[in-house]
Amino acid sequence: MNAGFLGIGHYTPEKVLTNKDMEKIVDTNDEWIRTRTGIEERRVAADGEDTSHMAYKAATSAIEDSGVKAEELDMIIVATVTPDQPFPSVSAMLQHQLGATNAAAMDVGAACAGFMYGVITAQQFIDTGAYKNVLVVGAEKLSKITDWKDRNTCVLFGDAAGAAVIGPVEEDKGILSFELGADGSGGGHLYQDQQDAIQMNGREVFKFAVRQMPESSVNVVKKIGLKEEDVDFLVPHQANIRIMEAARERLGIPAEKMSTAIRRYGNTSSASIPVALSEEVKAGKIKEGDLVVLVGFGGGLTWGAVALRW
Ligand code: ACO
Repeated sequence: MNAGFLGIGHYTPEKVLTNKDMEKIVDTNDEWIRTRTGIEERRVAADGEDTSHMAYKAATSAIEDSGVKAEELDMIIVATVTPDQPFPSVSAMLQHQLGATNAAAMDVGAACAGFMYGVITAQQFIDTGAYKNVLVVGAEKLSKITDWKDRNTCVLFGDAAGAAVIGPVEEDKGILSFELGADGSGGGHLYQDQQDAIQMNGREVFKFAVRQMPESSVNVVKKIGLKEEDVDFLVPHQANIRIMEAARERLGIPAEKMSTAIRRYGNTSSASIPVALSEEVKAGKIKEGDLVVLVGFGGGLTWGAVALRW
């Protein structure tokens, strides 16, 4: 028995901010944003629509997709750097809203790699037999910690939530290998400052990510004795198309086998991988039996990857 994805879902707010809209907010232009990042537009949550609201919508969609009932969930893990408040956790709020009366609840903080940390934590509980069904959510309202006067960062981020129910699947399916890592010495390259705004040394983060994402993607494939070209689909953290391309090129797979949800949503931190995965699965691009690599990196610095058989 392995741990695998029983169901998946996502939610994105209605309000769209295009690159043209960003031109009215800061000194930037569509061409710069497109060529440097791959982003065309992003979503922004409405006033009063907080992280827990988006998490709830993604979670209900994933639960419905899985066929598991809310009361059958043993644990809820929410990855977020933008909780409604420090406590109670978003996961505890969700536990109540969903009526998941038998579930333990905790939030994990690993920035954009948070969903990967959540999935691997769920896998451990399932592998030991302690738990059967674990809901893992990545949800972010980055718009509330975005400095809307800083063109270096405000063009990059968006709001969204993605969710998955992880549970036991057949031996040859589900999560086959993983890698998690951290390098706290790079913490100063990407952090939330005293004014609650995101601060980033873009070039340093870029250098780290362009090395780490390809390396971790290859590592998880090698761990299961397969080759780069065996990968059917790559879902990388959607931070910058150029970083994502580096991972894809290292695997040597064609462009149509990589998610590019970044174009429509920008960087949604811990939500980016589950949102992109959910879209690809629902569009039929990821099919049963496909070897899929999920790989993320984020503030910390942190990173994580899994190879899984869908
Ligand atoms: N519009 C126009 N010009 C801009 C903008 C903008 N929005 N932002 C910066 N510039 C300017 C800069 O001021 C600079 O001008 P200068 O040369 O006169 O000083 C010029 O563009 C080039 O800036 P660079 O930093 O060299 O641009 P680069 O090609 O490195 O791209 C970027 C910047 C997109 C931020 C890139 O470094 C990157 O993607 N880094 C990684 C970011 C990332 O992945 N963050 C992850 C966050 S994950 C998380 O945990 C939240």
